Amino acid sequence: MNGCIVHKKHEFYDSFQFQEYGEVDVRNAIISASRINLDILVIDLDTAPVTAMLSALHTYRVQRPNTRIIILAPGRQPGDTEVAGIIALGIYDIVAPEDDEGVIPELTQVINNQPATYTQAARWLQLERSDKDYSNKGAGGQPKSRTEILVQQRPLGLTTIAVAGAGPGVGVSHLCLSVAYHLAKNNNRVVLAEWPIGEKKAGVESQYGCLSPLGAKHELQKAHGINIKMAHLNGFDIFLDARSFRSIEYVFPVIAQNSYDYLVLDLGELGPESPEKIAEMDRAALAVFAVNAAPYRIERFLPFIDEQDLSVYVPNLTRWKIALNLANDKEIKWFLDTFSKYVGKVYPIPYMANIIEQPDSIKDILQPVLPTNVVASKKPFSWLKAILKK
Ligand SMILES: Nc1ncnc2c1ncn2[C@@H]1O[C@H](COP(=O)(O)OP(=O)(O)OP(=O)(O)O)[C@@H](O)[C@H]1O
Ligand SMILES: [Mg+2]
Repeated sequence: MNGCIVHKKHEFYDSFQFQEYGEVDVRNAIISASRINLDILVIDLDTAPVTAMLSALHTYRVQRPNTRIIILAPGRQPGDTEVAGIIALGIYDIVAPEDDEGVIPELTQVINNQPATYTQAARWLQLERSDKDYSNKGAGGQPKSRTEILVQQRPLGLTTIAVAGAGPGVGVSHLCLSVAYHLAKNNNRVVLAEWPIGEKKAGVESQYGCLSPLGAKHELQKAHGINIKMAHLNGFDIFLDARSFRSIEYVFPVIAQNSYDYLVLDLGELGPESPEKIAEMDRAALAVFAVNAAPYRIERFLPFIDEQDLSVYVPNLTRWKIALNLANDKEIKWFLDTFSKYVGKVYPIPYMANIIEQPDSIKDILQPVLPTNVVASKKPFSWLKAILKK
């Protein structure tokens, strides 16, 4: 069994340099670790600031989906938002004894056990809150409530690409079709689904309902005893019923029954009323944010970089790919000059008369999640061993 344990906090952590370069340091360490095919990676949550740690682990998960990650988090209690962030990445092995002495015995036990499941990790998501305004009083008249931090369980091996837009009509669905087509063309099994509308009545129309003129074929599939409407177009599937589901949690089990490699998730417009969509962007292997850079539409983008605007949870935009849809050269230049310090990489998307027209920017956006960049589950030298066995 290959393993790597980072248990001792390096003195660099407390130093001035760490404040300056800490993010680079933990990132490089974890990314370097991804070059080795480990069975298990053990990380102490306290060795780096949480945002750097989450971002590095996110990249690691994409690179090494089959390595079991164990997190050391001594002294943490259920409801800890940093541990919840780890669980949101699909990492469920959390070693959290009361103090440092308990770490090694508990870690040994965890390593010897089967990998933890979502159900075991779910206790971390129970947040005890005491809040005067809450109506349900706990024992002794103390206001008390339980809030659950929502984390969904997703099928193993499915890479999610979340696509959302700054405002309505910015080209999210068009981009989803192009992305799905690109992946399907390269022999991947792809499904495109829309974000469910919520508690509304079933049968909400899909935005992809009118694809027959483009050659889409429709089919009813049975899943969990219900008939599900699917469309097939250019080698990929579109899950036409997703919108009428109550929440994304219902979408995953239905999708899991076919073994897809990629889920392209059309989140539609992001806004203050949709923090769960922003969480979905952060959780996805790849998050693409479509923005219209035209001067009359840019105000839709501004709340996402305005830390003073408390109505919107300000996401970490540097981890998202910005797709500047239908922007002309002047708009692209202005956007880069104005917002480069807030955003990650920006990809101009040109006019595409149909989805078969594939500009280079689609491939560039998808680069981090293409199979060439995600190490497969093959063991090193497996081909050599296979030859020697002959
Ligand atoms: N890059 C593009 N090239 C050509 N047409 C485009 C492009 N982007 C968007 N369109 C067209 O603009 C219209 C709106 O785009 P689309 O439906 O993809 O936006 P949306 O963000 O999904 O909108 P909604 O908020 O309604 O879901 C569509 O007719 C679409 O075909
Ligand atoms: Mg749309």
